[in-house]
Amino acid sequence: MLVLGIETSCDETSVAVVQDGRFILSQVITSSLRFHKKYGGIIPEIASRQHIEQIGFVMDNAIRQAGIKLKDINLIAVTEGPGLVNSLLVGISFAQALSFALKKPLVSIDHIQAHLYANFLEKPLDLPFIGLVISGGHTALFLVKNFNQVKLLGTTLDDACGEAFDKVAKILGLGYPGGVAIENLVKNKKFKRINFSCGKEVRGLDFSFSGIKTAVLYYVRSQKSKARNQILDIAASFQEAVVDTLIEKSFLACKRYRIHKLVVGGGVAANLRLRQRLAQLEKETDIKVYIPAKILCTDNAAMVAGLGYQLYVNRR
Ligand code: KG4
Ligand code: ZN
Repeated sequence: MLVLGIETSCDETSVAVVQDGRFILSQVITSSLRFHKKYGGIIPEIASRQHIEQIGFVMDNAIRQAGIKLKDINLIAVTEGPGLVNSLLVGISFAQALSFALKKPLVSIDHIQAHLYANFLEKPLDLPFIGLVISGGHTALFLVKNFNQVKLLGTTLDDACGEAFDKVAKILGLGYPGGVAIENLVKNKKFKRINFSCGKEVRGLDFSFSGIKTAVLYYVRSQKSKARNQILDIAASFQEAVVDTLIEKSFLACKRYRIHKLVVGGGVAANLRLRQRLAQLEKETDIKVYIPAKILCTDNAAMVAGLGYQLYVNRR
């Protein structure tokens, strides 16, 4: 079964063709990121206008690269939310028009669950599992028995994890998107750890990331010098604290539900330090960790097409 996936929830306009929920025949991703950079965050109006300009071209390329014709598509899957409403609307309207013109079924996809599904595009995976989604808009732990039965176990009480990376990078003058900027600055460098911590007061499986952002802001204000190595210490210590909490809560969720499989997705899952620590977790415990290639961590349409297939063939 050939599924056309469409993703326009934030700044990426992406279309992919995926076969049988597993094999990516093509995937095209364009991003309006360069237009947002100078504002230090995504401007919804710019994002939606760029989707309107790009979506036709992106789909044509995805179809051509897959070596198929549009009429060969069996199913269309589109991100329904969460996301920026006008950006979502571009993808949804486009998908509805295609579905009507081609007389092909359309399924609506939850963006957060699609981030977890990204792992299934790389290797077959048994359910149930604990899912950790860490992106610019969301931070959540799930118990996934199957994709029709996803139970939320914990979520952020304030900022999302990626949002914290973005805000801290902004405070440090490192640019946008913050996760990438922080990672590039601190990657494999030695640093002096500053005592930041993340949501220590939040019990159980919920998260909090706004306190650490404020702690970084006050720390920066209290410092006389803004030398490069000072910024490195702050950025790296922030990243360590965030990674500590992600590992700790994921481990707790696996233990609490006696599940030995942790599936990770979302933009922050691209983070090298987190990937190193997850590999360590796998070594030191009986938990098997699944984390997709970086290109499938950030927003993409293949994960939407893949989950679309899964939901369609298992519909009741
Ligand atoms: O999943 P995503 O592409 O979009 C949303 O659904 O939000 O995630 C974007 C977020 C941004 O906050 C960005 O700073 C963060 O993912 N991010 C990273 C890295 N790459 C992207 N955070 C930490 N390390 C990275 N390498
Ligand atoms: Zn996302």
